[in-house]
Amino acid sequence: MTSIKELIDRLYKEGDLVDESLVHIIENISEEDRTHLYAKALDKKNQFYQDTVYMRGLIEFTNYCKQNCDYCGIRGKNDKVDRYRLSKEAILHCCEEGHALGYRTFVLQGGEDPFYTDEVLVDLIESIKKSYPDSAITLSIGERSYESYEKLKKAGVDRYLLRHETASKSLYESLHPNMSFENRRRCLSDLKKLGYQVGAGFMVGLPGQTSADLAEDLRFLKTLEPEMIGIGPYIPHEETPLKGSTGGTVEQTLVMVALTRLMLPKALLPSTTAMGTLDPKGREKALKAGANVVMPNLSPTDVREKYELYKDKICTGDEAAHCRQCIEGRIKNAGFRVDMGRGDHVSIWGPSKASSLQIDW
Ligand code: SAM
Ligand code: FES
Repeated sequence: MTSIKELIDRLYKEGDLVDESLVHIIENISEEDRTHLYAKALDKKNQFYQDTVYMRGLIEFTNYCKQNCDYCGIRGKNDKVDRYRLSKEAILHCCEEGHALGYRTFVLQGGEDPFYTDEVLVDLIESIKKSYPDSAITLSIGERSYESYEKLKKAGVDRYLLRHETASKSLYESLHPNMSFENRRRCLSDLKKLGYQVGAGFMVGLPGQTSADLAEDLRFLKTLEPEMIGIGPYIPHEETPLKGSTGGTVEQTLVMVALTRLMLPKALLPSTTAMGTLDPKGREKALKAGANVVMPNLSPTDVREKYELYKDKICTGDEAAHCRQCIEGRIKNAGFRVDMGRGDHVSIWGPSKASSLQIDW
């Protein structure tokens, strides 16, 4: 029978395996095989992005949400949340501070907040683009119509993050009351059609999630080919219907990050805050397993704690400048180089950037 090490080597070479082999790796990987997998994933990442790690400035601009995802701390029905939304001026101020700190990508994330109509968002985005034409804007505000995504794209949004959360239809439906699996996929496909750089992704360790579900996540990503893929451990929150559940581990998540890197070598893979929450070295470990993006927080410190998706979320008290410095230090200590540029997907780089990194086209 083929060993797990041989399967990893085949995945490294061919970029795919049958689902049964993926499940076999996920279920039976040993400590020694894990070390091998992470080294192969890091090597694959280096072929396209060398030792660079891209920095994005994250602005969590609203914690209002009309949805009720069972795992999420800011779900609409959690009446213990102190709700906030940042004014246009406050958001622009975050961008100003971020730009001065060197950021050239702003990620605007929030719940599904009906206050943010297309009109409000278009005005906001045009203002950011006017002030910072050299910077990319990423939105992450959930499900909207094709027409809405189209208007936002025209206003200047470059990228959109919408995790598929889980590729298992039954698991998805059990966790998302009044939401539809098909609509989430429709959104991802619309975003692709409209020419966004698209981010999908999933949580690891959701209650009821099986290894076959995780293999399905990899299969879905391989088919969709998103430019960005956010993978993080599920971490329980006390004020949700899933309180008391176990949650995912750093090790399980690292395995999924590394397998994703081998299946989609060019993807931009963030080392998530959730990893840093579970393990003080979690983000460094993810970088060493093939991740190549970090998203330090630019939100004003007085709202940070209110955007509590899961318990004990880190960095809630730190100023933007402190976060940038802290993460930069971590990246360097882990042996990587910080890149403060826009950090686009390798497929849309111009020749100058490509030649500076000696990419083999
Ligand atoms: N509303 C937007 C959306 O639906 O894409 C973006 C905001 S949502 C809070 C961002 C991500 O947080 C989700 O895609 C989900 O994967 C993650 N998340 C929410 N609750 C979590 C939890 N308890 N543990 C880990 N990640 C969580
Ligand atoms: Fe809406 Fe989590 S349920 S952001």
